[in-house]
Amino acid sequence: MHFIQTSQFEEAARQKVDEAAWCYLESGCGTEQTLRANIKIFEQYWIRPRVFVPMQAPDLNTTVLGSPVSMPILAAPIGFQRWFHPEGERASAQGTGQAQTLYVASSSATTRLEDIATAATGPLWFQLYLFEERDVSAELVQRAEAAGYRAIVVTVDTPWYGRKERFARGNYSMPGTLLKANLDEHASGMVGSQYGWEVIDWLRSLTRLPILLKGVLTAEDARKALAHGVDGIIVSTHGGRQLDAALPSLLALPEVVEAVNGQIEVYFDSGIRTGTDVFKALALGARAVFVGRPLIWGLAVNGAQGVADVFAILREELEYAMMLSGCPAVSCIDRSLLREAHIL
Ligand code: FNR
Repeated sequence: MHFIQTSQFEEAARQKVDEAAWCYLESGCGTEQTLRANIKIFEQYWIRPRVFVPMQAPDLNTTVLGSPVSMPILAAPIGFQRWFHPEGERASAQGTGQAQTLYVASSSATTRLEDIATAATGPLWFQLYLFEERDVSAELVQRAEAAGYRAIVVTVDTPWYGRKERFARGNYSMPGTLLKANLDEHASGMVGSQYGWEVIDWLRSLTRLPILLKGVLTAEDARKALAHGVDGIIVSTHGGRQLDAALPSLLALPEVVEAVNGQIEVYFDSGIRTGTDVFKALALGARAVFVGRPLIWGLAVNGAQGVADVFAILREELEYAMMLSGCPAVSCIDRSLLREAHIL
């Protein structure tokens, strides 16, 4: 089967995974306002193409915190991947390496972070939830550093796990055999709501790795992040899974980019489904984007190869967008290439 669009992976994955896993993957929080808006908002931005820009093939290579990647499209941290494929995170890290890009391992992975590192062939970052017990987070950071992960991505939109109403209404539950492989049996696995900005200073004292914050949506918090010396920000609504009615990520991106003013790298996720979506996020100032659900569709359909195939589709679509808009390199994609208009 040769798929042309990521949506074909979604249709095929739906046939493969059980109802509970499907609901866990696809749902958002609350009434899913943000989940829907994250996707729809891309249609409010239009590309202003330039003509007669000579080029051979567009150059998609870039770097993320200094690590070279083959394209500005990266794998978002997603928990419980063995629910979707027996090889789980090992397969998705392999497929991401095949695409020569970056994989972020989740704190809720069902594979030990050391084993993910063994399977991976590309650069790795580790996503950290700030757990109720500080020791649990500290140990994860130290293990990630020892295993060769190159940055810590602290998810800051999760002082509580979001209210997944679709999942609860369906009366679904996670299989008891699906365990967070990186937490020992005594850890509660609960995230801590007690933390303030000083927790970033504490984290800084634990590790020499760069620290990124995932889930910043305002200029105010972007400025605080700068003041606390973070190395990067990921503008994200957690794929519409935390605060329902939070502003869609793409709407938040410009104010964060403006507040940061080039001092650190700004990344984007939530709602990327096509190469033109990637193009639009880059035009609004993202260094690169993270993709969540589409890669898990690929994983469910065909393991590591499915993940690599989803990356290949997004890559090709981005190449077309660059060629047809007159952008020979990702660094040329800027705000002048977009126009905002609500006509749909
Ligand atoms: C996530 N996400 C997530 N984020 C995180 O920081 N740690 C995690 O363990 C998870 N787990 C997780 C599971 C599932 C099933 C989904 C769909 C999402 C959020 C993820 O990193 C990313 O922000 C979104 O998935 C991006 O939105 P799209 O690309 O799925 O629309």
